[in-house]
Amino acid sequence: MNIENYRESPVFYGRRKGRRLSKTGKLSIKKGKKFLIKKEDLKNFFKLKKNIILEIGFGDGENLVNSAKKNSEYFYIGADPFLNTNAKCLNKIIEYNLNNVMIWPDDIRKILGYFPLESISAIKILFPDPWPKKKHENRRLIQNEFIETIYPIIKPKGTITIATDHDILKTWILEKFQGYKKFEWIVKSSKDWQIRPNDCFKTKYEIKAIIQKRKPNWFIFQKKHILS
Ligand SMILES: C[S@@+](CC[C@H](N)C(=O)[O-])C[C@H]1O[C@@H](n2cnc3c(N)ncnc32)[C@H](O)[C@@H]1O
Repeated sequence: MNIENYRESPVFYGRRKGRRLSKTGKLSIKKGKKFLIKKEDLKNFFKLKKNIILEIGFGDGENLVNSAKKNSEYFYIGADPFLNTNAKCLNKIIEYNLNNVMIWPDDIRKILGYFPLESISAIKILFPDPWPKKKHENRRLIQNEFIETIYPIIKPKGTITIATDHDILKTWILEKFQGYKKFEWIVKSSKDWQIRPNDCFKTKYEIKAIIQKRKPNWFIFQKKHILS
């Protein structure tokens, strides 16, 4: 795929809406508007915020909200196009009165091109949709174009953490990142991919994996310093 097409008009295959929102859900979306990122504000946004962590596909927001609660020195951007989970996450952001987190309620690929060079300290992608069938592999978030797009926006030595419990996706992720060569897989022993890193919280999909007896793994890749 041409990288420009990839960035300008990505095709999103996941769900955007589930069951009808509850009263609380509707209220959270209404009250939570101030926590939503607008494309036109992105330029100024990055001038004001330092130490930004981006979480892609935050789901119900367990990791995003707990991380923001714990680390006030970081600013968190969460992206997820699914309305129902946006409502759940906004509800928690309002409840805990957090001022270091904002949400892009859409496909992350639509705004990655607006992120300045070296503006993101770390990216977290916890349990991305596996799209296990061969015929659907182009629907997986981790693609060569995705890696090529995130590489320049991550700070030197910045990291990307990806969790998955799906065997096909485990191999896919390792192959894609190792094939790219500009990221290094940070690993000393098997514990490094078998135990959830200290800076990640348990999510709904991790719990689901454990209940269904699938082993979650966490892969951390660090941006290499490439001399030009
Ligand atoms: C399997 S769920 C995992 C949710 C959560 N991280 C967890 O561990 O419980 C994957 C999430 O990624 C979101 N997602 C998929 N593609 C995305 C994209 N291109 N940009 C942002 N979010 C995306 C989906 O809407 C969904 O909420």
